[in-house]
This record gives sequence, C-alpha cells and structure tokens, in this order.
Amino acid sequence: MPAITASAPGKIILFGEHAVVYGRPAIAVPVNQVRARAIVTANPGSAPGTVRIQAPDVGLEAELASLGQDHPLGVAARLVLSELGVTRPPACTLRITSSIPLSAGMGSGAAVSVALIRALSAFLGQALPPERVSALAYEVEKLHHGTPSGIDNTVITYALPVYFTRGQPVEMLRLPRPFMVVIGDTGIASPTAIAVGDLRRAWQTEPARYEPLFDAVGRIVQAGRTAIEAGQPQALGALMNENHALLRQMGVSCTELDRLVEAARAAGASGAKLSGAGRGGNMIALAQPENAQAVAQALEQAGARRALITLVQKDEPAREG
Ligand code: PMV
Repeated sequence: MPAITASAPGKIILFGEHAVVYGRPAIAVPVNQVRARAIVTANPGSAPGTVRIQAPDVGLEAELASLGQDHPLGVAARLVLSELGVTRPPACTLRITSSIPLSAGMGSGAAVSVALIRALSAFLGQALPPERVSALAYEVEKLHHGTPSGIDNTVITYALPVYFTRGQPVEMLRLPRPFMVVIGDTGIASPTAIAVGDLRRAWQTEPARYEPLFDAVGRIVQAGRTAIEAGQPQALGALMNENHALLRQMGVSCTELDRLVEAARAAGASGAKLSGAGRGGNMIALAQPENAQAVAQALEQAGARRALITLVQKDEPAREG
C-alpha cells in the first residue's frame, strides 16, 4: 500500500479576530509558504489496529492507544476512525511535521488536524469531503480553547480567502487583484485560550463597553470585503489601522505587537495590525511589491523573530494525493 500524504497551509486573519467569537464576521486568508504535513504508511508486520503516531517537531513517538483522551493528535485520529466506523484500522504509522510557528496566530493546530484527518481518511479508503474535514478539525480546536469561532479550521480546510461568520455557511471571497502582506512574528508564544478567556471575562463584566467595539470591527470587516472584491486592496491599510486600534481597546495587544505595528507603518506600510489572538504571536502589514522588503527588514530590526512576505491571491489550493 503506497504512503498517503496530505498537507494544509497556515493562515492569517486579515480582519475581525475576537469579534468573530461574538457573532461578527471576519476575513481570513491561507498562507501557503508554511504548511503542516501528514504521511501515513502501512506497517504490514504489526498487528491490525496498531496506529503509531510520530510528531518529531514536538518529540512525540507513541501508540494511538497510549495517547490521553485530550491529546490533540489522538483526538483527531480517533475522530476519523469513529466517523468512518473503523474499529481496527490496518497497522500504520502517522507522521506529522509542520513549518507553521506554534502558538503564533497562524493556525498551526488546525492545520495539523486538517492534514492528519485528510491523510488518515484517505489511507482508510474513504477520503472525507471538505465540510467533514473542517467539522472534525473544529472538534479538535475545542481542546485549544472552549469557544473557537471555527474560522481557523474553515480557512485552512478550503485554503482560499474566506468571509466567515460563526454558524453560517462560509463564503469564498472574490479577489480580482492580489495584494502583499508582510507577517511579523513577535516570537512570543500566546495561547489563544488565554486572550479569548480574558476578553470573555471583561465582556461579561462590562458588555456595554465591548459590544460597540465588536460592532465597529464588524463594520471594518464589511468595508474590507467591499475593497477586496472591488479590486481596491490599497484601501485595506487604513482599515487595518482602525482594526488594530479597536483590538488595543479590547486589551489583546501588547508592547511588542504595538512596536512592530509602528515599525511597519514607519517603513512605508499603509496599515498594520495584530493578527490572531494577540498578546504575542503575529502582526500583519499591507505592503507594495516595492516596499515589502523594507517593511520586512524594519520588522526584524524592531525585534521580530522573523518576517514573511506573502501574496494574497485567489489561487487553487495545493493538492497532494
Ligand atoms: O488561532 P488564532 O491565534 O489566530 O486566534 C483565532 C482568532 C480568535 O478570533 C481570537 C479566536 C477564534 O476562535 O476565532
């Protein structure tokens, strides 16, 4: 039986993080330069039902049966088996690798789940359709934090720019003109659950303060969608700046993110904001082909661990058999 490989991209949120947890829309796009990969190989010599899981990036080498009930890789693999009604899979090894930075707002957890679910279901001869892949990855996302909006698993499964509202069918964005985004990584690991949990407590105490912030973000997301679909991405810079100001008011930015946002603007980016859960992780800046390198350099000089230039375009997702 040949090895089965599947992969899934990283992602960034262009507009609407956090407010999306409270029912407002958000826009997210895939980042194809960084990917999670899963390879399943048959082990005909081992007893049926034995599934070995290897994740060298995190030093894991274990039997599925020995992984705890809340281990994300174990949960993802068990969800696939139960979805397909398989109790004794052919003996196999499931190897997971990823170049997506961890806890950085680039969707590493969701990408690992999507790659694993695709590869394992294909290995079992019943490749799952995208909506089931996304639904199972969402179940795993719940382990990372209790109230995920579902945006990460959605954009990563479809590998296309999405307009996403919790509980509603996903809409793919028309993208007549590509645009360039520079991603700056603070290098500070920021678990999504903490930022999301803190904001939830603040909102519960003072809903009248936070609801208008979420509404204002919702209006920015609408304006962002209009600009993208009208082929006017140059309008996105000002909207990023406004979105960042609102995220600061929600208390999810930090000194390092603010410093990188300022550095990007000073280097010529027409706008910048934090991206993802905040408190660390990544920020993004809107750049032009002529100044993207300068913006990336300015971010590194201002303390970014790495800066990545990505072209946002409506391309076909990379498919692997
Ligand atoms: O996974 P991150 O760090 O990009 O955060 C996801 C975005 C949030 O809106 C903060 C949470 C969510 O579930 O949508």
